[in-house]
Amino acid sequence: MSRIVILISGRGSNMQAIVDARIAAAEVVAVISNRADAAGLAFARERGIETRVVDHRSFATRAAFDVALADEIDAFAPDLVVLAGFMRVLTDAFVLHYRNRLLNVHPSLLPAFSGLDTHRRALEAGVRVHGATVHLVTPQLDAGPIVAQAVVPVLPGDDPGTLAARVLREEHRLYPQVVRWFVEGRVDIDPQGIVQVRGAACRESTMCVPQLDVG
Ligand code: GAR
Repeated sequence: MSRIVILISGRGSNMQAIVDARIAAAEVVAVISNRADAAGLAFARERGIETRVVDHRSFATRAAFDVALADEIDAFAPDLVVLAGFMRVLTDAFVLHYRNRLLNVHPSLLPAFSGLDTHRRALEAGVRVHGATVHLVTPQLDAGPIVAQAVVPVLPGDDPGTLAARVLREEHRLYPQVVRWFVEGRVDIDPQGIVQVRGAACRESTMCVPQLDVG
């Protein structure tokens, strides 16, 4: 059984999607938030999942917060740590501690639109497709090896809210799939940081674009 710890800062809908996917041979052993008011904590508690809060405001430095956070995580002896809307920049030491077992979902087709406010920036850039990326976390922000991406069209009349909602639906499909691949031991990362997923069909690795036939 693979042990998974999920980190959230807010709503936690990606965390919920992973829990609800009931991935065989995987157990979400804890949900940890840097904010006590993160809405997703209630869902985790209802499901009988252990929760913890490590409030970043209680620490003088980023490094001190990351040490305390890692202590909480490591108490659950996770095989995989999943960032699901965890809105903190992590120190290099933290990231390297979880090398090749720390995943993030980012709401853009990386390497485009790393950082914040991705949907507004995509609209302002006039891109025709947008989406989400699940990647391994490395010290460089939003730049780790890409495991899978989901693509959505940008439609006339979109605003950041409508576009975010379309992307989020795909995140909920994509992230559990990637977690499943990890648990199944099917993810290989070559020395250049290119990821191969053994036996993944195109429809799973999502560069098929189901919603693009929109006329
Ligand atoms: C998701 O859209 C995720 O891609 C994004 O925050 C949202 C969290 O939603 N993450 C980032 O922007 C990370 N830089 P959720 O709490 O409902 O899963």
